[in-house]
Amino acid sequence: MTVHFIGAGPGAADLITLRGRDLIAACPVCLYAGSLVPEALLRHCPDGARIVNTAPLDLDAIVAECKAAHDAGQDVARLHSGDLSVWSAMGEQIRRLKAEGIPVSVTPGVPSFAAAAAALGSELTLPGLAQSVVLTRTPGRASAMPEGETLANFAATGATLAIHLSIGNLANVVAALTPQYGSDCPVAVVYRASWPDQEIIRSTLATLQADVPEHISRTALILVGPALAGDGFEESCLYAADYDRRYRPQTADSSWADWKHGDD
Ligand SMILES: C[S@@+](CC[C@H](N)C(=O)[O-])C[C@H]1O[C@@H](n2cnc3c(N)ncnc32)[C@H](O)[C@@H]1O
Repeated sequence: MTVHFIGAGPGAADLITLRGRDLIAACPVCLYAGSLVPEALLRHCPDGARIVNTAPLDLDAIVAECKAAHDAGQDVARLHSGDLSVWSAMGEQIRRLKAEGIPVSVTPGVPSFAAAAAALGSELTLPGLAQSVVLTRTPGRASAMPEGETLANFAATGATLAIHLSIGNLANVVAALTPQYGSDCPVAVVYRASWPDQEIIRSTLATLQADVPEHISRTALILVGPALAGDGFEESCLYAADYDRRYRPQTADSSWADWKHGDD
């Protein structure tokens, strides 16, 4: 018996991996984080499955569900929104389950920042503008930020920022980022990326607070940085005609030279 943690994706019911879908179909118990996991995914559960929305449960109650399934020899599909590697609360569940001797597996999902970038049709790492993406958040009621992980510090890098869990904190986001990025820095807010009611707001740090409508008060990502403008960037070397690479070698030695340098 295993508890299978499965990334359920950002919202659209077809943005789940085939492995995740097949595990849901194979598990007689399904625990899902109902606040963000689309209910449409539950149609993959087998007939008669025990299906529990864990949104109103505390950690003890969730572990108790897993223990009961374990005692009955039943596999569990444990669904969390997006991918499990960020803000999923998977870490604390796995720690408890391991202490109980209950085996676990982890199947990744499409994270919301990737769904938001797809909705925008944007690459977040554009040559000469940004080559890093910072997945971060601002402090919330339940979660303080470790010292040093401030927006101002991340802004000092000039990277593209994907700010989660912060749509209710726009004034602080703008105040922290404007000194580094400038008030004309492009910002995109993607509300409920990939859901049928998805909305996109393109703005700048100067106008962000005025541009985001009141009804967008949760489940939104704030993407900030020069790459969001989508222009003024260089072409990458990757497809340049004269770029010497393993799959388009310019000399007999190219292949080995690229291999040594770890190039694609
Ligand atoms: C608890 S975190 C979950 C993150 C998730 N594990 C992931 O991989 O994206 C919830 C936050 O993720 C972002 N989020 C999740 N789903 C989203 C979506 N479909 N569109 C935009 N933002 C989303 C929002 O910032 C939201 O406040």
